[in-house]
Parts: sequence; structure tokens; C-alpha cells
Amino acid sequence: MNQALQFFRLDGSASTLVFLSRARSTPEIIYWGPLLSKTCSLASLYQLQERPLSFASLDQEAPLSLCPEESRGFSGSPGLLMHRSGRAYGHRMTLVGTKQSNDEIVFQLEDQNSNISLEITIHLDASDDLLCASSQIQNRGPTPLSIEQLACASLPLPASFQELLLLHGRWGGEFQLERQNFSRAAAVQIDNHSGRTSHEHFPGLIAGVAGFGESQGSLIGLHLGWSGNYRIRLERLADGRSYVQASEYLLPGEIQLGAGDVYQTPKLYATWAEGLNEMSQRFHSYVRRRILPGWTRKPRPVLTNSWEAVYFDHSLPRLNQLIEAAAQAGVERFVLDDGWFRGRRHDQSGLGDWQVDPEIYPLGLGPLIESVHKHKMSFGLWVEPEMVNPNSDLFRQNPTWILQDPTYPLVTGRHQLVLNLADPNAFAYIKAALLNLLHAHPIAFLKWDMNRILVLAADQTGQAAAHRQMRAVYRLIDEILIACPNLEIEACASGGARADFEMLRRTGRIWTSDNNDPLSRLMIHRGFSLFFPPEVMGAHIGAEKAHSTGRKADPHFRALIALQGQLGFELDLSQSPLEDREIFKHYVSFYKDNRGWIQNALIFRIQCHDPALFAVSYASRDEQRS
Ligand code: DGJ
Repeated sequence: MNQALQFFRLDGSASTLVFLSRARSTPEIIYWGPLLSKTCSLASLYQLQERPLSFASLDQEAPLSLCPEESRGFSGSPGLLMHRSGRAYGHRMTLVGTKQSNDEIVFQLEDQNSNISLEITIHLDASDDLLCASSQIQNRGPTPLSIEQLACASLPLPASFQELLLLHGRWGGEFQLERQNFSRAAAVQIDNHSGRTSHEHFPGLIAGVAGFGESQGSLIGLHLGWSGNYRIRLERLADGRSYVQASEYLLPGEIQLGAGDVYQTPKLYATWAEGLNEMSQRFHSYVRRRILPGWTRKPRPVLTNSWEAVYFDHSLPRLNQLIEAAAQAGVERFVLDDGWFRGRRHDQSGLGDWQVDPEIYPLGLGPLIESVHKHKMSFGLWVEPEMVNPNSDLFRQNPTWILQDPTYPLVTGRHQLVLNLADPNAFAYIKAALLNLLHAHPIAFLKWDMNRILVLAADQTGQAAAHRQMRAVYRLIDEILIACPNLEIEACASGGARADFEMLRRTGRIWTSDNNDPLSRLMIHRGFSLFFPPEVMGAHIGAEKAHSTGRKADPHFRALIALQGQLGFELDLSQSPLEDREIFKHYVSFYKDNRGWIQNALIFRIQCHDPALFAVSYASRDEQRS
């Protein structure tokens, strides 16, 4: 055997990954598929893949490595794009070491010519066969190094994978499925620079053999665990090979590494499976075991949220009626949505002034919370910490705390601006404001909202700061959770525009959509269920006539669809007809009887040939309940 070839192998319970490094080059995946026997010859596997050169190509075929390099002739998207003040964009890595344990390999690479080192970490979860990949680059040189792109990893796709399933959408219509043919030399690239995962493009996709379905067809599902800007690119090269690559989408000049500095990519999660159900079952199980906060393993309470019940029309008597009606229906948590703080009588003012509005709540939130507790419910509160209205004391006093290039007119969205949380003063103010609230009141749950996209996201010096903003948001949540370890959080961004594993690590629940029309929700839930388990999916029974679509639905249909996730209410129950309230009571108690096993259940979406039909079944792991 050629001594210059080094093989590495990781085994899950049902799949194997084999890597090859040729003459200490950046390793490439030469096999990812069903579990191989321990005695399988990796060299023969490699020989099976040897191919002749195609016409009009370079004299050697460039390896499709974990970080493909132009210096080795790769003509697709390089894993790393960098430069030093417009020069030295080339690099050619050498494998200088590896650290391997049962389920993980860290490849250590260096290029002494360009003065960089790179670590690529590949973890293969032994129980769920979930691959988790990330990369880290260090500037070993004396001059600043600009990073324009660093893929978590580039993964090859089998030639037989010719179909893609993507999740697209819009406000009120998130997670819609879209199939695409992927058989010819071409690239599909999703660039999202909205500063959140977005309504439009979920950071994940599925590639598989033509016609893959719920229970058949080999496929790879992948998801980027990152709540901000990202790029996912699939390409079929002219020579027939194809790959998928995921990275943070970096704005011009935003990552400048000084001597010794490091940039770490987000984590890319991927799994190989037969059919979509198997893929989802793996993602769900992994999320439950390795991502979700511990509190999500306790029965998820039925909640009622005040938003569509009262919007900004807060008053203690009205809310008390709602609390009482909710308690009678069996609700266990009351969430006070937007509208409770100073100056927030509508969505044009108040964000940033996180003090209880004395005009609406002259005695503070105490009396409301007492009423919630008296009815044996826990209390939750809505916040939107990353934002500020120009019409707020916070902005009037600190106009430079804004995340937008100061040389251009401010762009608002829902009448609000983004606070630059990488600014230590803005960060300290918001952290203190949240902790004041959390220490002053028994708040069990925060609905953490984020209602506008980022544009021209630069700090006051004009340097792009979307990456720093995202890291600061994670740090803010982490520090809040250290101070309040029992706090539960829900991620929301005008519905489901911030849905990913890195946010889920901290929040444990996602508000799936602002559309509570059960018919629209069916398709939203279907897409969401590909990657996320049901118990993290906020799903509420809305008004008879849906506020988002104007369509009417009967109480059974509304309740049955909401039962697919974590059940809640998004209507003023005190105004619902008595018969409806009795029906809801029945479903609440059904939810309570079943939530225990559903939060560990396997999901089976049932393949229906009529596209108008969608059926889903949950089954307990011991196969005793479904
Ligand atoms: C957007 C959220 O998605 C809604 O549920 C609600 O909380 C509003 N924001 C409040 O402003």
C-alpha cells in the first residue's frame, strides 16, 4: 500500500465515516454510509473510487477535501477564503497531527508559508449517527489576516444524489418544502444575511437519491447550528463530483485576525439516513440528548399567551378575566406578551425602556403575577432585548448604541433599530435591565423576541459587526441563565425566523409562526418536524377566525393541530363560547395525559400521494403508545 496514504475511520451505530489524507494533505471523506465491517479494507475502498481524469481538466484531480484548496487545483468554492491586506490569498495545508477518540477526530493542519493553522473537528455521535463538524483557524503571522469564508466542513455527496429538499418561506408561512433537481453541473447557494435564520430560508437541507420519501431513499440531511448570517452551498462540479458546504456568511472585513487570534466556525450537523423519517428521528433524538436544556425533559406546560388575546390593550381587569378562563381550561402558564413596559401602547415606541409601565400597572406587575399564581399557573414575560425604538428614552440618551453604519440614514423595521450588543455599555445596560426584572419578579419563562432584520450591521467605526452581534446575543443569554438557572426561554423572531440548534441550546422552545390558522400550521409543522422534535414547537389554539388569514376553523381542528407541539392558547378564552371552552378542556387534559411519552416519541410522517393530505404519527419508543 502507498505509505503516503493515511486513513481514519469513525463508526456510529449504523454508519461509518472514512477519511483519507494523501501525502499529509487536508483529509477528504472517501466513505460515508451504512456501517462497514471492522475488517473492511479502507485501501480497497479508496481504490474503488479511483477515476480517470476528465478532458479539459488539470493534470491531477483536486481532492474534494474537508477544506478544499485552490492551491491543489480545486475550482469549486474553497473551504477557506482569506487574505492579508489584499495579498496572500493562497494557502496549502499540511496535516501535522490528529487527536482521535472513539467518536471524534480533530485534524490539525498548518501552512507555514501563509502562517496559518487550521483545526477541523469531526464528531460522529455513536447513538444517533449525527455528524457534527466545525473548523477553527489561527493567524500565526505578524500581520492581520482577513477571513472572508471558512466552511465548517465540505462534505462530498454521492453521485446518485440528484434531488434536494429545501425549506423556504415567508412571515406566517415558515418551513415550506421545496424540491429541486440537482443532476447537472450547477450550484445551489443559499445566502442569508438577515442577522437571524430568517423566515425565507431555514439553515438546513436534504440531498438524496431521486424520489426520496418519508420512508425510503438514501439521503443526507444537514443543518447549520447558527442563528445569524450563513451560506449553504451545494455544487455539482463539471467532473461529476458534488459536495455541500456550510459556513457563516461573513460581511466584508468583519473577521480580522491579529497575531495569534482565532476564528471558530459554527457547528454543522448532518446525518445519513434511509428516508426522511429516519433522518428526523436521528435529529430529534440527538437534539433531546445533546442540545436541549434539562428543563425541556419535564412535562411541557400548557400556556396561554396574551398577544392575540389583547395585543397592546393591557388592563388588569381584562387580563384577570383571561387568567381565570385559562385556569378553568387547565392552562398552567400565563405569558404576558408585548405592551407591558413604559411607553409601549403601540409598536412605535418604548423598546429599550424595560421598566413596567406605571400607567397600566400602577402597582407594578405584582398584582398580575399574584393573580396568575393564585390560579396555580407560572408566569412568563415577553422581551425583545436586542432592539430599541428611536422613540424611547434609551435611544434619546444613547443614540450611538445602534448597530448600523453611522454615515448613512438609519433604516428602521417595525419602527425599531438594532442595539449593538458588542458595545460593552449597551450590553451591560440590557443585561442589568433584564436581571432587574428577573430578580424583582418570580418570572419562570421569557419569550425572547427579535422582530427585525439586520442591515448595514456595522459599529460606530463602520466595521461590520453581525458576527460580533450574534456572539454577544449568545453571551447575553448565557449570562442571564447563569444568574437565573431555573429560567426557561422561548426563541421567537416574528414567529419562526430564528430556529436553529445553537439558539435551541439556550432556549428549548421555538415560537414556530405568527400564523395560528390550523390549515397553514399543518404545512409549517411538517417542515419544522424534519429537524426539531415536537415538544419544542410552540403551537397555540388561535381564534375561530385566524388573525393572519381570516379563515375560520372549528375548535376541534384548531386543537388537534396545536396538539402536535407544545400546546398553548393565543386567544381570549374568556370571550370564547362555553361549548368551545369545554372542547378545549378536553384537549388540554388529553395533552396532559400524553405529553410524557410524546416528548421522547419517534415521529412518522406518513407518505401520502395526494399532496393535499398530510398525516403524522407519534409512537413511543417502547412501541406501546401511538
Ligand atoms: C412577534 C411575535 O412573533 C408575536 O408572537 C408577538 O410576540 C409580537 N412579536 C409582539 O410584538
